[in-house]
Amino acid sequence: MGLFSRLSSAPAFSSFSMHTLILLWFFGLFLTSVVGKNSDRDRLTLLEFKAKISDDPLGFMSSWNDSIRFCQWRGVSCGRRHQRVTVLDLQSQKLVGFISPNVGNLSFLWKLNLQNNSFYNEIPPEIGRLHRLQVLLLNNNTITGTIPSNLSSCANLIVFHVAINNLVGKIPTKLGTLSKLRIFAIHINSLTGIIPPSFGNLSSLEGFSITYNNVGGSIPDSFGQLTKLKIFAVGSNRLSGTIPPLFFNITSITKIDVGVNQIQGYLPSDIGITLPNLETFTICSN
Ligand SMILES: *[C@@H]1O[C@H](CO)[C@@H](O)[C@H](O)[C@H]1NC(C)=O
Ligand SMILES: *[C@@H]1O[C@H](CO)[C@@H](O)[C@H](O)[C@H]1NC(C)=O
Ligand SMILES: *[C@@H]1O[C@H](CO)[C@@H](O)[C@H](O)[C@H]1NC(C)=O
Ligand SMILES: *[C@@H]1O[C@H](CO)[C@@H](O)[C@H](O)[C@H]1NC(C)=O
Ligand SMILES: *[C@@H]1O[C@H](CO)[C@@H](O)[C@H](O)[C@H]1NC(C)=O
Ligand SMILES: *[C@@H]1O[C@H](CO)[C@@H](O)[C@H](O)[C@H]1NC(C)=O
Ligand SMILES: *[C@@H]1O[C@H](CO)[C@@H](O)[C@H](O)[C@H]1NC(C)=O
Repeated sequence: MGLFSRLSSAPAFSSFSMHTLILLWFFGLFLTSVVGKNSDRDRLTLLEFKAKISDDPLGFMSSWNDSIRFCQWRGVSCGRRHQRVTVLDLQSQKLVGFISPNVGNLSFLWKLNLQNNSFYNEIPPEIGRLHRLQVLLLNNNTITGTIPSNLSSCANLIVFHVAINNLVGKIPTKLGTLSKLRIFAIHINSLTGIIPPSFGNLSSLEGFSITYNNVGGSIPDSFGQLTKLKIFAVGSNRLSGTIPPLFFNITSITKIDVGVNQIQGYLPSDIGITLPNLETFTICSN
């Protein structure tokens, strides 16, 4: 018996399965076109990004051309299934330019690494649209402006490293909601304001480095809640007040730098017992 006669001998089944097949086929086309459109949008976004780079002395970006698919462009990684950009890694390439706000359209991005270049202008607030972003490395550039408070929308952020730039303004209080954040590094900038007490809610925080800024106020009591904290570096700022007593109960801590501030008070006599992992303790010029 041929296929046709089998189908015609079971009309109800055949019309069901034909419908299903047609539906599946349409659905497949639909999915392919959605995924295709989105990944093509990533290609256009990358070209927008490239257009904002004004100097590329090492020719790093020359592979960003239509002779190969964008997922093979240097510094670009894509997810295998969706062919969407997941990693953009352009570190240490002597690139000069500004960060295109369009980067906020790379909705599958989990890592953005632009460290050791000469990117200037501001951190685009559109980065706040990257809900999958885990690692943001913009350190060692010449970025100006403030830290956008809507980066607090990057709920999966683990590493925030914007040290060695020309950033001004305050540390946004809203960043205290980034519950997965482990590294917060903003040292060597010109930030002012205070250390937001909300950072005491960053229960995953292991590294907090704000040395060489102009941050004032006192060390928030809430930092005593950070039971995973290893590095606390706030030297060379304008901090005053005393070190909160609870701070000396963070047994995980290995490095404390509070040097060159206006901190006062005295140290608990049992500090060698309460902080058994301490390796470096800088407290000069207070
Ligand atoms: C385009 O990219 C390919 C692959 O990296 C490279 O070999 C080629 O030189 C590039 N073309 C131009 C015009 O830069
Ligand atoms: C990409 O982002 C820019 C700036 O945020 C926006 O103006 C533009 O409409 C977006 N493009 C697409 C194709 O989504
Ligand atoms: C910053 O990046 C430049 C290259 O752009 C490099 O020469 C320099 O050593 C880097 N500095 C640090 C502290 O990473
Ligand atoms: C940035 O530059 C510094 C100093 O040259 C170097 O130690 C560091 O490894 C560089 N970072 C990367 C990721 O290349
Ligand atoms: C952050 O601000 C920019 C510009 O104001 C906006 O385009 C973007 O959608 C905002 N992101 C979030 C997550 O609110
Ligand atoms: C920490 O989070 C709790 C609950 O979300 C909130 O009520 C509290 O104000 C936060 N603490 C600080 C210091 O912001
Ligand atoms: C700090 O830890 C010690 C020993 O575990 C404990 O006796 C003390 O009450 C703690 N201090 C605070 C303020 O919780």
